[in-house]
Amino acid sequence: MIASWQSPSNIALIKYWGKYAPQLPANPSISFSLEKCTTQTTAEVTPGNGKISVLLDGAPAPSFLPKIQLFFKAIADRHPWAGVMDWTISTHNSFPHSSGIASSASGMSALALCVVDLAVQLGERLPAKDFRKEASVLARLGSGSAARSVYGGWVVWGKTDSLPGSRQEMAIPYPLPIDPVFTTFRDTVLLVDVGEKSVSSSVGHGLMLHHPFAEARFAQAREHLVKLQSILASGDLSAFFDLVEREALTLHALMMSSNPAFLLMKPHTLSLIDRIQQARKDGLDVGFTLDAGANIHLLYPQTAEPFVLPLLQGEWAGFCKEGRYIQDRIGSGPISLPSSSVK
Ligand code: PMV
Repeated sequence: MIASWQSPSNIALIKYWGKYAPQLPANPSISFSLEKCTTQTTAEVTPGNGKISVLLDGAPAPSFLPKIQLFFKAIADRHPWAGVMDWTISTHNSFPHSSGIASSASGMSALALCVVDLAVQLGERLPAKDFRKEASVLARLGSGSAARSVYGGWVVWGKTDSLPGSRQEMAIPYPLPIDPVFTTFRDTVLLVDVGEKSVSSSVGHGLMLHHPFAEARFAQAREHLVKLQSILASGDLSAFFDLVEREALTLHALMMSSNPAFLLMKPHTLSLIDRIQQARKDGLDVGFTLDAGANIHLLYPQTAEPFVLPLLQGEWAGFCKEGRYIQDRIGSGPISLPSSSVK
């Protein structure tokens, strides 16, 4: 039996930072899925005893094994059949491994989709009863933010009374109206730093457990989500950039005020933030968000592209490592691939 899926990375606008067992978020988050930054995974199973081999671009990748073994342990209750199979998992990322873009959301969601696909092929019952819902639950158990990558467009993860159908265990497609401007969004990742992240997200979530500002942050994220709902409905870009930039800076402020503290922004991150905010003051529809790293996610609607590109190709690229950036945009979600297409 074999299954192949391509699944995207996603970028959160309201951030998930803080969790409790079993991998449930301390506050709801919202993201959009990307188009080009994807992982393609093929999973092949034969009857066996749970042996797992992992290949990255055709070569053995034993460093991925611990995380994948943890994933299979976490899904064992829901999918006991997986433990009596041997697994060959072949994977390929469309974006460079060292690019500073988290591959855990795309990687874990692609693997979760393969597992659910195989469960269906084997006639197994899906505990969540629905293909994507089950995939989102499994992806979440692999990496929290991966729960959101099983859908395209705007996606919510975490229960909030303000969004009907939202759940802790799984993500759902954003259920309320969105102004068309937010369906054309670009995310250009400015690669300020391409090294390893200096704080892993599991360490980061752990730091929120005893963080002095934790409760205030979780309440703020809920307020921000309600605000974002009306911004998404109205198409108010200036309010949008103001809010998502505060979210990004809050994420970093939480890391800077953790014990131990982490400072992930680099001087070039700040130089770019300065220029992006100045460009907005000058009338350009552009803003940024940040992940748990130094790179800038430059956000803008399609209409701003002709004005943003010259800045990117000019001065702004000078703040990126070797002038590198990755141009991506909001995408339509995972796709099932012809089997054995990933070697
Ligand atoms: O899915 P994790 O455990 O890697 O956590 C992701 C955390 C952030 O990327 C910083 C925020 C988010 O909501 O994606």
